[in-house]
Amino acid sequence: MERLLVVLVAVVTLVASGRHDEYASNSVIGIKLRDRSDLKLLSTLESDLDLDIWQDGMPGARDAMVMTTPATQYALIDALDNNGVEYYVVVQNVAKHLEEEEDHLFQWRSQRNSRMIFQDYPRYAEIEAYMESIANQYPNLATLVTAGPSYEGRIIKYLKISTTNFTDTSKPIYFMDAMIHAREWVTTPVALYSIYRLVENLRTEDADLRTDVDWIILPVVNPDGYEYTHTNERLWRKTRSINPLNATCIGVDANRNFDASFNTVGVSSNPCAITYPGITPFSEPETGYIRDIMAEYLNRIQIYMNIHSYGNYVLFGFGDHSLPSNAVHVHHVGAAMGAAIDTMKLPQAGYYLVGNSASVLYSTSGSAQDYGQLVGIPFSYTLELPGYSYLFSVPPEYVDQINEETWRGIAVSARLAKLYYGARSSN
Ligand SMILES: *[C@@H]1O[C@H](CO)[C@@H](O)[C@H](O)[C@H]1NC(C)=O
Ligand SMILES: *[C@@H]1O[C@H](CO)[C@@H](O)[C@H](O)[C@H]1NC(C)=O
Repeated sequence: MERLLVVLVAVVTLVASGRHDEYASNSVIGIKLRDRSDLKLLSTLESDLDLDIWQDGMPGARDAMVMTTPATQYALIDALDNNGVEYYVVVQNVAKHLEEEEDHLFQWRSQRNSRMIFQDYPRYAEIEAYMESIANQYPNLATLVTAGPSYEGRIIKYLKISTTNFTDTSKPIYFMDAMIHAREWVTTPVALYSIYRLVENLRTEDADLRTDVDWIILPVVNPDGYEYTHTNERLWRKTRSINPLNATCIGVDANRNFDASFNTVGVSSNPCAITYPGITPFSEPETGYIRDIMAEYLNRIQIYMNIHSYGNYVLFGFGDHSLPSNAVHVHHVGAAMGAAIDTMKLPQAGYYLVGNSASVLYSTSGSAQDYGQLVGIPFSYTLELPGYSYLFSVPPEYVDQINEETWRGIAVSARLAKLYYGARSSN
C-alpha cells in the first residue's frame, strides 16, 4: 500500500492548469469494506476529517468511494493501512476527470442535431421553460406550481399531474423530487423523463399510472447549487446560503436539514463541511418547500421518492437504525422497485441493494427520507441511481438507459404503493 501512496502523491503534484483546477490535487479512492467495523471506521473518519464520500459502501457487496484532498489524504490512508483495510485509486486527478467529462459533453452535443431535454444535463432556465411549456400545452393534465424562491432568488417550481385536477381524493399521490444535492446531475433527467412519460408520451401499458395516481414532480430542489456546479464548481453538493455564524462558509447539506433527529448523527459541526446540517431544521428555503408540499397533501401522498446519485440503492428510514411500523411493506415496495430496475440494468451496473439506510449504509439524521416517513408518508425512500464507473460524471449516452430503467422501477413502486393505499383509506 505504501507504493500506491507514492504514486498518488507523484501524480497529484503534476498539476494541469485549466478548468476545475481546485480539484487538481484531489483523487478518488475505492475502499473495500469487509464488515461493519470497517464501515464504522469510515464513518468515524468521515466526521473527523470531513471526508467527501462519493459512494456509500456496503460491506461485502459494494466498495465505498471517497474523494481525498491534500488535507485528508495522509490521515485517511494511514488509518486504512493501520486497520488493514484495502483501497485502490479510482481517479488519480479529479480535475482531469472533470475536464474529460466536460470535453466529452461538448463533443456529444456538437454531434447531435436534436435531443430531448431529459437526454442531456440542461441548465435551470431550460428546465423551467420545459415545465412551463408542459403546463401550457396540457392545461387539463398538468399544473405548474411555484413553491417559492431559493436562497439566491431562483424560483423553485413543481408540476402537478392529474386527470382530475387533484380533486379525486381516492387517488394516491406519488411525490418525487431530484437534485437536492447539486452535483448529482443524472437525477433531474429522471424527473423530467417521468413528466414526459406521464404527459407527452403516455403508453398503453402505463395508462393506469396516469388515471389512478396523481403526481407531484419537482425536478430541481436546489437550483442555486445546481447552477453553481455548471458555472463554478462541478462537485458542489450543498445549498448556497451564507452561514450566519461564519460568512466564509457557504451552504448546507439540504439532505441533513430536515426536522428528523436533526443534527445528531452523520453530520459535521464545521459549517464549511460537506455534511453540515445548518443552524436549525429548515434553515434553507429549499427544504422548507418539500416540508410544505408534504404538509399540504399529507393524507394523500402515498409514496415519496428523493432521488440521488450514485450507488444503486433503494433506502428507507430511519437513519438511526429504528424502523417504521410498516417496515415490511416499505421493504416490499422498495425491493420490488429495485428488482424491476435490475431486470433491464446494464452488465456494468451493480444490482440494486435495498434496506434501512442505517443498516445498509450508516446512520444519518435530518434526511428528507426520514422526514417524509416521520410525518406520515407510508412509503418514503432515498433512491441512488447508477454512476457506473463514471461516478457523478455519467456520460449523456447513458442517460436514456437510466431514465428508462428507473421509470420501470417508478411504475412498479407506484402500482404497489397504490394497492397499499386501498388498505390505508379503508382503515
Ligand atoms: C384546477 O383546480 C384549481 C383550484 O385548485 C383551479 O384554480 C384550476 O383552474 C383548475 N384547473 C382546471 C384545468 O380545471
Ligand atoms: C470560519 O470557518 C473557517 C473554516 O473552517 C475557519 O478557518 C474560521 O476560523 C471560522 N471563523 C470563525 C469566526 O469561526
